[in-house]
Amino acid sequence: LRIALLGFGAVGRRFAELLPGAYGRALRVIGLRPLLTAIGTARHGFAIDPAGLDPAECLAAVVQGGALDALHRGPRVSSASAFIRALPADVLIEVTPLDPRKGEPATSHVRAALRRGLHVVTANKGPVAFARRELQALAARLGVHFRHEGAVMDGTPIFSLLERCLPGAEVTAFRGTLNSTTSLVLSRMEAGETARAALREAQALGIAEADPSFDLDGWDAAVKVCALANTLWDAALVPAKVRRTGIAGISRLDVQRALRAGTRLRLVARAERRAGRIIASVGPERVPLEDPLAGGGSHAALAFATDLAGEIGVFQLGGTVDQTAYALLSDLVFLAASSKSTRIGRASGRRKRS
Ligand SMILES: NC(=O)c1ccc[n+]([C@@H]2O[C@H](COP(=O)([O-])OP(=O)(O)OC[C@H]3O[C@@H](n4cnc5c(N)ncnc54)[C@H](OP(=O)(O)O)[C@@H]3O)[C@@H](O)[C@H]2O)c1
Repeated sequence: LRIALLGFGAVGRRFAELLPGAYGRALRVIGLRPLLTAIGTARHGFAIDPAGLDPAECLAAVVQGGALDALHRGPRVSSASAFIRALPADVLIEVTPLDPRKGEPATSHVRAALRRGLHVVTANKGPVAFARRELQALAARLGVHFRHEGAVMDGTPIFSLLERCLPGAEVTAFRGTLNSTTSLVLSRMEAGETARAALREAQALGIAEADPSFDLDGWDAAVKVCALANTLWDAALVPAKVRRTGIAGISRLDVQRALRAGTRLRLVARAERRAGRIIASVGPERVPLEDPLAGGGSHAALAFATDLAGEIGVFQLGGTVDQTAYALLSDLVFLAASSKSTRIGRASGRRKRS
């Protein structure tokens, strides 16, 4: 299984760290030998080696602030599009930052890789929110997969659950605390910390967006609402149509007042389908302490209202970048299970290093 990473930040690096050990073992159990053949970044250069890159060497190169170019073999590559055109890979893992207004350039990266006949796995919710229908159709036409489990609630199985676990039932609405950074900030404010200190903690954990205002202003949650609604209802909802209020105006006093009233302030994302229309919002709400959405720290929760199975939910305790990296692995395992007849299963006789 020849793997290329586009984006080598918090998520890409954690994936690469785990590939030689636990992730490699999980893939070998199902008959795949993983080989990391390419890494592309914005400021740390590009490295492609059809014979395999050593993840530890790549990590060492960027951790010291250096570039990957010294590890590159073959003709020079200087842009993400040239990188995708040159990839000796079976699957592209797209983990560049979120652009909540247009979902670019990630959507173009995904489209270009699919057109080349590569499977694509992403934790980037932009392409799912803005172009899921088009990208799934393209993938289906070309006999490859477009998987995005990490786009909502990191490694918690959301899209797999919707795809496989509610046969015959229809989801009519959902509500969730989908942005771990704002949950962490609000819960630290309950304990008397400043929002700024709590945000620094989220950044140190690697869970904040590259531009953390996308977390605080509710954009990240709005994009996730679109990713979910568009998947559930085959819709074309865009983040600008989600009624959105962030947490920037919330003070420690507000948070503590809510707590004294037996509630917790949380940034709640909601959507429902009513008379064929989707009504979606993101905003701070007082959530009763006993509600599953009232978790502390970076916990996240999502509840689905269904017509036949009542309200069911999933939660993630203390989300970190580990869970997002796991989402990538889980999508790769899914690919292997459902791609027996594609070239993903034929990558085995190659030299490997990871
Ligand atoms: N972190 C999380 O816990 C988490 C959770 C769920 C989903 N996600 C999603 O996963 C994705 C990656 O998150 P992250 O935290 O790893 O982000 P990050 O730390 O900001 O890393 C982004 C990486 O993408 C590279 N990059 C930026 N623009 C690029 C471009 N135009 N072409 C090629 N490479 C480019 C950056 O290059 P440089 O290294 O040179 O800057 C960096 O390596 C995001 O879409 C995010 O929303 C993250």
